[in-house]
Amino acid sequence: MCGIVGYLGHREAAPILLEGLRRLEYRGYDSAGISVMDDAATLTTVRRAGKLAELENAIADSMPSGRVGIAHTRWATHGPPTEANAHPHTSRDGDITLIHNGIIENAAVIKKRLVELGYPFRSDTDTEVVVHLIDHLWPEGGALEDAVAAALAQVEGAYGIVAMSSRDPFKLVASRNGSPLLLGIGADGELMAGSDVAAVVGVTRDVVYLDDGDVAVLDRTAYRTFHLERGSVRRKVHQVTWDLAAIEKSGYEHFMLKEIHEQPQSLRDVMRGRLLPEEGMSRLGGITLSDADLAKVERITITACGTSWHAGLLGEYLLEELARIPVDVQYASEFRYKNPVIEDNTLVLAISQSGETADTLAALREAKRRGALTMGIVNVVGSTIARETDFGMHLHAGPEIGVASTKAFTSQIVALVLFSLYMGRRRDMSVLEGREMVEALQRLPDQVEEILQQTDDLRTLAEEFADARNFLYLGRGYQFPVALEGALKLKEVSYIHAEGYPAAEMKHGPIALIDEEMPVVFLAPRDPVYAKVVSNIEEVKARSGRVIAVVSDDAPELQGKVDHLIRVPQTVPALLPVLTTIPLQLLAYHAAILRGCDVDQPRNLAKSVTVE
Ligand code: F6R
Repeated sequence: MCGIVGYLGHREAAPILLEGLRRLEYRGYDSAGISVMDDAATLTTVRRAGKLAELENAIADSMPSGRVGIAHTRWATHGPPTEANAHPHTSRDGDITLIHNGIIENAAVIKKRLVELGYPFRSDTDTEVVVHLIDHLWPEGGALEDAVAAALAQVEGAYGIVAMSSRDPFKLVASRNGSPLLLGIGADGELMAGSDVAAVVGVTRDVVYLDDGDVAVLDRTAYRTFHLERGSVRRKVHQVTWDLAAIEKSGYEHFMLKEIHEQPQSLRDVMRGRLLPEEGMSRLGGITLSDADLAKVERITITACGTSWHAGLLGEYLLEELARIPVDVQYASEFRYKNPVIEDNTLVLAISQSGETADTLAALREAKRRGALTMGIVNVVGSTIARETDFGMHLHAGPEIGVASTKAFTSQIVALVLFSLYMGRRRDMSVLEGREMVEALQRLPDQVEEILQQTDDLRTLAEEFADARNFLYLGRGYQFPVALEGALKLKEVSYIHAEGYPAAEMKHGPIALIDEEMPVVFLAPRDPVYAKVVSNIEEVKARSGRVIAVVSDDAPELQGKVDHLIRVPQTVPALLPVLTTIPLQLLAYHAAILRGCDVDQPRNLAKSVTVE
């Protein structure tokens, strides 16, 4: 979602802030802005609608000078992406400036009061309310942090904010509630605030993750943190392990392509130290529950959004098949507002790449309120979901910058296989079955490497279909979630309408769409439902549909029958989804490029959806 960055130190702030924004642009990108305070405490604010380049061009010849500042990339929630709605927002006298990520739910009520008090509103945003409220509540002789705390006491909703003021200069005040925010603690007194590690990693790898209700005060001497209700708190300094190279394109044209190609490595990383080949087991150090308590788990509810929800759906098939545990999978946005039945001995598993998705976090908190044991499968270390679950697994996939999730998805699948193995071997999975799975897992990264060699063929295929207006993706069993994910990938980056469906369910409606114009991607690797899928392919061919089949051997039954075969290596059915996903990612990528779409920053999308 919106990207936030703040800097205070001995260097010029603007270039550091712009670099931070560049690294955050993937989070949201319809407008951007910067405020810098010079050594005489004068504030300069520049904002532009559009991509970050617009802001960069606007200040290229007259970079605002000063050693403290804040900057923002916006993903619109309230009001269109205009310059007036871009952040930072400033107070009526121009002496307070503020950036915000989140949604202020009682903005309308507060705005009405402030308008009556004569405050001029110059934007449609909820954020502007906060800056005027800080102005209004600033206590006589008080400090910026007092004014911010007084304002936040009246604000309802989610926020990560950073404020700066010439009334109390050379200081940044940052606070969060429900939106991610962290501090970067650099050398020589350099301090940063950011909505994501990417914002600060150019300056430092020492970070402090703020908790909800925390306020951080950064000035030229030090930083301190206090909680809005509990007073002074100290938060641990963490070391970020990945470096700048991890968030650069390393010669690839796009982050999405780079991340697709990183999958052999990200799969090795999610398995590293976790496989026990002899025992046919997995070792999961992050699962801190005793065997006795694990044995009590009778049911698992998985909650997630988007691609992570697709991984969760696959988790249902995996955990039921391999560990014989009943599983239900719920969209986090639905779970949080329904009256979910959480029985004793239910484990609630939240899956999230970013660990910051607002709906998933809210669902997790609702589950905790109802007494559930909670687990997280999360990529971003130190993220809120990682911190708030009772135990869990990290993906170790490295930063995923492309807005369309690719490597995180395949790592989520493998994490779920490892967890199913962990639970299954403690229940009724035999050592031989376990060993077969571990051996197949060990082969997986090289098999992915093999599929990646087909990128040119997939580009050629994409050329044939790039003008299609609709696509259907069909699969059964383990391949049904892959069909959903393939369709999502295509629509989000190429804007071609696509639907994923269980292959047999097609007869109950979508078959009406099939004609010679309609490309249908069948996931048809050799698994226990292969013969059934072949019958479904016949049904589509009988209606002149154009069939692309993803298969895992020579597929003699399909030779000459389908329009295109894409071949992936053979493995056990539970791991085939990792392999069949890869060509679908490449197909979506190439179709999008051929259609001239911006794959790393698709329209209207943001990487981490931190508002509901
Ligand atoms: C699609 C995509 C989104 C995310 C969803 C959840 O490519 O990336 O659908 O999967 O917004 O995000 P996380 O996993 O960060 O909770």
